[in-house]
Amino acid sequence: MARETDHLFKSIFFFAVVPVFVIIEGLLLFSILRHRHRAGRTDPAESDSPTKLRWVVIPAIVMMFVDLLPFGEEARTTFALAREPKGDVLAVDVYGHMWWWEFIYPDFRVPKAPASYRIGTANELHIPTGRPVRLTLRSIEPGLRSLQGFRSQSDTDLPTGVIHSFWVPKLGGKQDVVPGRENKVTLEADKPGTYFGQCAEFCNLSHANMRLRVIAQTPEDFDAWVAAQKRSVTPPADGLAAEGFQLFTGKGGCLACHTALGAEGNSFARVGPNLTHLKSRGMFAGAIFENTADNLKRWVKDPPAMKPMRPEQGTGMPNRGLSQEEVEKIVAFLETLR
Ligand code: CUA
Repeated sequence: MARETDHLFKSIFFFAVVPVFVIIEGLLLFSILRHRHRAGRTDPAESDSPTKLRWVVIPAIVMMFVDLLPFGEEARTTFALAREPKGDVLAVDVYGHMWWWEFIYPDFRVPKAPASYRIGTANELHIPTGRPVRLTLRSIEPGLRSLQGFRSQSDTDLPTGVIHSFWVPKLGGKQDVVPGRENKVTLEADKPGTYFGQCAEFCNLSHANMRLRVIAQTPEDFDAWVAAQKRSVTPPADGLAAEGFQLFTGKGGCLACHTALGAEGNSFARVGPNLTHLKSRGMFAGAIFENTADNLKRWVKDPPAMKPMRPEQGTGMPNRGLSQEEVEKIVAFLETLR
């Protein structure tokens, strides 16, 4: 997809530079210099002859032919990009939340988990190299219904959510993520590496904090990652982490919005990211903070202080009013989620 788009850009650029810019601008410059005003020359007479029209019609016809090639190229690329990839394709469901990315892998079930569970991650999309990855993109935001100012009073039947845009420049993928629609885009990485991305459609308060990473791995490394993502949480036996586990599943109320496979409750809430393998990610909160214990502590203590959010309107994590001691315990548990 990136190559098709790049090829289209280069061919149109070529036609824009050579015939349009060099030849036409060249003739224009030549004419300006050649017929410029000099001492002794009289001003040219104004003409209203109908034959003047030919100097509009002839260039228009010439330009039509010049445009045919890039236009054909554009039509071809449009159809090529719309085609479903063939062969061994990996499917990933992408959900644009306010303001983070959720990635769910519909092909990867977890044997002992409830049937609806699939492995899923946040903000860091893992893909294998050399294999087309077909993304299905949807916008999701249940909390938005209460957000005033986005809709008129009578528009209660409009789908909730805002438009995001999934964009990973180096992999060429850019596709709008529109409420009530399923959009598709294909990514394929030739080389392993980390490819940076960013929401490219203004989506309110923390649009700028809605980044993402695509982590392309060799097929072997990717399989190892998938296998690790299928593990469930092991409740810590003792210490601070065990106390944190109690808070996490109990008084902290974390499972009301988050999933942690194997933790008590198994509610599979998807308001916030799946935390089962939180520490397998390098970044969190829309890929804007490094996933360190210190950052997690600051985050759990007061999320809206770190990233602009409106939890009272269902967009973003609220300040749970935890004491510093409780924060230390919860993060000690979070640190075990590998
Ligand atoms: Cu999501 Cu901008």
